[in-house]
Amino acid sequence: MKLTRRQILAGCGFAGAALLPSYLAAQSDEAGPNTLSGVWLEPFVDPLPVPRILTPTVDGLESQRYAIGMSEFQQKVHRDLPPTTFWGYEGSMPGPTIAVRRGCTVHVEWRNQLPSQHRLAVDHNLSGAGTDVPEVRAVVHLHGGHVAPDSDGYPDDWVTPGAAQKTVYPNQQPAATLFYHDHAMGITRLNNMMGLAGFYLIRDPEEDQLRLPSGPYDIPLAIQDRTLDARGQLAYPVGPATDAPWVPEFFGTHVLVNGRVWPFLNVEPRRYRFRMLNASNSRVYELSFVPEQPFVQIGSDGGLLAGPVTLNRLLLAPAERADVIVDFSGREGHRLTLMNHAPAPYPSGGTLSPRFLMQFRVRRPLAAIADTSEIPTRLADIPRLQESAAVKTRRHTLREYMTADARLHRVLLNGMRFSDPITEDPLNGSTEIWEFVNPTIDAHPIHLHAIHFQSLDRRRFDVRRHERTSEVVYTRQAIPAAPEESGWKDTILCPPGQVTRVIIPFKGTPGKFVWHCHMLEHEDNEMMRPYLLQG
Ligand code: C2O
Ligand code: CU
Repeated sequence: MKLTRRQILAGCGFAGAALLPSYLAAQSDEAGPNTLSGVWLEPFVDPLPVPRILTPTVDGLESQRYAIGMSEFQQKVHRDLPPTTFWGYEGSMPGPTIAVRRGCTVHVEWRNQLPSQHRLAVDHNLSGAGTDVPEVRAVVHLHGGHVAPDSDGYPDDWVTPGAAQKTVYPNQQPAATLFYHDHAMGITRLNNMMGLAGFYLIRDPEEDQLRLPSGPYDIPLAIQDRTLDARGQLAYPVGPATDAPWVPEFFGTHVLVNGRVWPFLNVEPRRYRFRMLNASNSRVYELSFVPEQPFVQIGSDGGLLAGPVTLNRLLLAPAERADVIVDFSGREGHRLTLMNHAPAPYPSGGTLSPRFLMQFRVRRPLAAIADTSEIPTRLADIPRLQESAAVKTRRHTLREYMTADARLHRVLLNGMRFSDPITEDPLNGSTEIWEFVNPTIDAHPIHLHAIHFQSLDRRRFDVRRHERTSEVVYTRQAIPAAPEESGWKDTILCPPGQVTRVIIPFKGTPGKFVWHCHMLEHEDNEMMRPYLLQG
């Protein structure tokens, strides 16, 4: 029997020091998930917004142009709250969806029209965010896009208000749910918290042929947790020292789906396709429906899976995407609530809330006589990469460094700073195995830019021994990647006490990219390293 990814990861909590640091105590929501400093919020009173599809400024079959402005605006997140100040693309949070066909080259001019002062406290001690650089900087990265280095949004390639970043996206990759978001050095967590993220969908003829639910039945869901104050404004915690506001992780008291707190969606009794994106800074979700209703996962980060995988619980780490089909037929008159069961921090943290995300109400009549969509048993050809194809194995250690008073103060890959010389320099066209050794108590979602990889396995090791001698001594058998993780991935969750292995076929335009932890607080405190794709 093959274990699901949830089963594999559930048994991974390793007995580390079980202390609840002060920054987490401050973020836990003891008053219950519905109250905001005394303001009662009624769940499921706002309809789910669906981000609009952006129209290109110049349209064409082979190429398209877009001009996208980033600005500050107000948007309502709940019926009973005044509008919230956000930063976003084209005046919406999440930004409008860019939907393109495979093979169509897309040129985007990203215009920074943001104010010159940040709304959230910048920590000038973080690398690249010192007082020597402008406070507001922005650079857009297309997460999951196979692009050239100069269009990838390198963290230092930021532009200031009044300037623009130009990118070219070739879209020579299979149909997939990608997303664009800010990536500016040292303030990525703050820019994303303010709202700088949106969907980017690639479609292709192979996918069209499958007759998956489409049009109004194909809905992206961006899941983002936020803490709102009584006036409905974004609140982001600050550390104990005023000159060092960085906090190791952010867990909000409320979850927004497509920019709304606890929205509802009226659905027909038929199949829907939901492209779920965890666009939260740090929170991992473990989703399920009440009453029980399975998710049929058909795709992950890099596109369709080989075949559908039926799950009752869906695990989604920051930046991961799960393309799922949910069948509401036979459920007329029912309400299904999307719940979250993951503790924060994941997997061994103490705070559970918020527990629910949104509600689906099966109350619209079928628009057609019958639902003609299908879930084919074969979705895509995913050649399994063989370990023997790898020319190199690199072992990476994920580390958290504490101060004497047990405050987390830096998170690093291989103990190296972002500015340290490049050590990862794969040859274009070669295949490598990367092993992520995680002796910390957190699960870290590790992301590589510009390529997709396959998950191999996870294996427990002796953490105490590793602490003493740096050796990796395995204590269990390796557990192979679960079926829902066996497609193309760009972000892989690395549980504590385990070595997570992926196999990476490096191919693209040579140059400098980055790889990093996608918990944005970690990324901003240098859990990020460059890699050089050698031509
Ligand atoms: Cu989604 Cu380097 O980022
Ligand atoms: Cu991390």
